[in-house]
Amino acid sequence: MKNIFTKNVAFGFSLLLLFLINSVNAQTIAENGMVVSDNVIASQVGVDILKKGGNAVDAVIATAFALEVTHPEAGNIGGGGFMVFMKSTGDVTTFDFREKAPLAASPTMFLDEKGKIKDNSNHKGLLAVGVPGTVAGLYQAHQKYGKLPWADLVRPSVDLAKKGFTMTYGLYNAAVRVSDNDPSEDIMKNYFRGENGEIVKPGETWKQPALAKTLEQIEIHGRDGFYKGVVAQEIEDYMKANGGIITKEDLEKYEAVEREPVQGTFNGYDIYSMPPPSSGGVALIEMMNLMEEANITEIEFNSTAYVHLVAEAMRRAFADRAEHLGDPDFNPEMPLDKLLSKDFAKKRFENLDLNKASISDPAQYGHPYGGDHTTHFSVVDKDGNAISMTYTLENSYGVKMGSDKLGFIFNNEMGDFNPVPGQTTSTGQIGSDPNLVAPEKRMLSSMTPTIVAKDGKPYLVIGSPGGRTIINTVFQTVLNVLAYDMRIDRAIEAMKIHHQWLPDMILYEHNLLSPDTRDALQKMGHTLRPTTNIGVLMGITYDASTKLYTGASDSSSEDGGARGY
Ligand code: DON
Repeated sequence: MKNIFTKNVAFGFSLLLLFLINSVNAQTIAENGMVVSDNVIASQVGVDILKKGGNAVDAVIATAFALEVTHPEAGNIGGGGFMVFMKSTGDVTTFDFREKAPLAASPTMFLDEKGKIKDNSNHKGLLAVGVPGTVAGLYQAHQKYGKLPWADLVRPSVDLAKKGFTMTYGLYNAAVRVSDNDPSEDIMKNYFRGENGEIVKPGETWKQPALAKTLEQIEIHGRDGFYKGVVAQEIEDYMKANGGIITKEDLEKYEAVEREPVQGTFNGYDIYSMPPPSSGGVALIEMMNLMEEANITEIEFNSTAYVHLVAEAMRRAFADRAEHLGDPDFNPEMPLDKLLSKDFAKKRFENLDLNKASISDPAQYGHPYGGDHTTHFSVVDKDGNAISMTYTLENSYGVKMGSDKLGFIFNNEMGDFNPVPGQTTSTGQIGSDPNLVAPEKRMLSSMTPTIVAKDGKPYLVIGSPGGRTIINTVFQTVLNVLAYDMRIDRAIEAMKIHHQWLPDMILYEHNLLSPDTRDALQKMGHTLRPTTNIGVLMGITYDASTKLYTGASDSSSEDGGARGY
């Protein structure tokens, strides 16, 4: 390990100084490998695997399991997600382990007799749970590309759950929020409590014995430790007892899928991202094409013209998303080649008025904004393998329910399906066909794990949580690095906006957009709404001239951080 630290080993004092500088800097620099995640303990678990000789795939798996323990708001084995993997050879592949609708699901399962959504049931209660995909996806990636034994990758998380780790303020605040404010949610009543029945306080040790046992099943039996045997039996029993419909058959039938990435270019860079059932990659590449077409590098960052163009690109990409995208296994006719083409970008901007906002028409062809309740992490290793992975429970702590015997929380991802067939509204509810519920169908996602390459080598590894805002968060950060030459930490922190076609408004990060610009945008016909923060990005860039990795975690992540060696 030619670590920045060990090079300075002769100078104990300077080493300490360097450590302090490195840990307070907005960016972390390393030579051999790096993990940037929403929780520094999990990032360290990943880096330890790299140091032991594991590759990026091994590190990503170990980090994912560690996040289930240390960042349970979104880290998960009860949810699903996507992984984009660029091998050191330059080849790129992806793993889709998105949740699926259970066999007993139907397009109208959330509706009452009047055709209205019943009791928020697509988000609340066990009908909202999709068949989890995370363990299957991680296992499949390991079978094909892992180097270290599977058990070595799960063991650190078993230990973390069993022996516990120090409760942070970030986790504690979330624990108080979900445990006390919503007593209806069963697992939350005791999830964060110690033996004395109190919520574990910051600085105290939080242990999760039931989760440790579940993880042990996965450590010993691999995929089958989750989808068969005692864990699967308890999932079925818990579902039956509490109004859920997921059965052992659903679990046994679940398969992760390795898919070709979607690919685009921007000013000579290659962009690789997630294909459907995520809409993220297609929309990202469509918007990057629109930016190339608009010659964005000539337009000043954060100017009125910049915000207008970026918002208009978002409006168009989100309308196309609503019209065309869904699970590819159910929508074989999706016009992906067209949506990804430079020609299409040209046509899509034909009706753009540089001085006036376009109109979003629900009758022609948009869901509410997302929160931060997904988590992204980026990993690189010493051989030049890079992985961008985003996974989620949908809402913060998913459906906030799970069996005490298993110690993990289920997703409420069924809420990502279009809930009312045929009904698209100006508030952003979408009812188009490609994303209606069907048995074994994957719900459309916005997750956008992305790798940008230069000369066949990873240049930027990036992603974010945030529901529909994810696509736009990643889009603007990629643009910040590629078009505006920003350092990764600055690209992550820079002002972001969000427009999703419907509702027709620009959400912007307050204090970061000048009153004059806002005024000018309103005069052009845009409706603006401030928000505190958009996105929680975790990114890594590679500098071929210094051969160094630079990582940064978004300052809005309370426990996040980059670890390298
Ligand atoms: O897959 C998706 O796009 C969403 N379920 C992600 C959710 C998220 O980022 C947090 N939002 N509420």
